[in-house]
Amino acid sequence: MPSATTPSATLPSVDAPFVNSASDTMPSDKNTAPAIRLDGVDLSLGNGAARVHILKNVSLAISQGEAVGLVGPSGSGKSSLLMVLAGLERADAGRVEVAGQQLTGLDEDALARFRGRHVGIVFQAFHLIPTMTAVENVAVPLELAGRADAFERAAAELTAVGLGQRLDHYPSQLSGGEQQRVAVARALAPEPRILVADEPTGNLDEATGKQIMDLLFEAQARRGATLVIVTHDATLARRCDRTVRLRSGVVEPEEAPAGADA
Ligand SMILES: Nc1ncnc2c1ncn2[C@@H]1O[C@H](COP(=O)(O)OP(=O)(O)OP(=O)(O)O)[C@@H](O)[C@H]1O
Ligand SMILES: [Mg+2]
Repeated sequence: MPSATTPSATLPSVDAPFVNSASDTMPSDKNTAPAIRLDGVDLSLGNGAARVHILKNVSLAISQGEAVGLVGPSGSGKSSLLMVLAGLERADAGRVEVAGQQLTGLDEDALARFRGRHVGIVFQAFHLIPTMTAVENVAVPLELAGRADAFERAAAELTAVGLGQRLDHYPSQLSGGEQQRVAVARALAPEPRILVADEPTGNLDEATGKQIMDLLFEAQARRGATLVIVTHDATLARRCDRTVRLRSGVVEPEEAPAGADA
């Protein structure tokens, strides 16, 4: 598939033995072009008197393979920022470049293709299609991407998250944690370079939430994906390489590295 700046030879494939260390055999472009770059991004949503200026001159660079926790008070714009960098919402001003693709100016169809190719998304509320089985939910984006082996890959991804015995169950027949594992499998199946998750453990108990976190961080490490997680959970934020804090739609200055108080 054509890609503006990323030769397909450098794209991670799920079977490749991924390396985590910059000193290893990753191509030397690992840190030269950020996986995600926002420059002066503004976003307002709503109409008329209800219009809200949400993101204000947001600039941000995230390297390929980095795990970033997006934190800040409720209403500070975390979900909105995630939507912009996932190509689900279009910025009003500024530049958004993700996985080597300039998103500014892309129409809806082009944005949908971009997401299908490069971005895996996990929401707090799972967002599975209730009339489809687990394996069908995971296979849909693969089929849309034209993969002939969509169902085999979907079954393999579900097996990898421990749901090999639940392929033909509907979401209503699965626990919350199992539904979120289906959602993670769906996000990972197309082998995206960018993974975004909006409070992925917010609806789960602590132990189940930890399992979901483990799956996401394992995918980040093993597949070399870039991970951006919106979270109110300090433990989860500390597992990230760093945190980015929003306040009233503005990015606060850089925080202390992971390990410090989130
Ligand atoms: N479609 C919309 N129209 C108008 N205002 C909106 C819209 N979506 C979000 N907002 C407003 O934008 C602000 C930021 O919302 P956002 O959902 O990004 O916050 P958040 O940081 O994710 O909060 P939380 O932690 O509660 O999820 C809020 O004041 C919200 O009311
Ligand atoms: Mg939110």
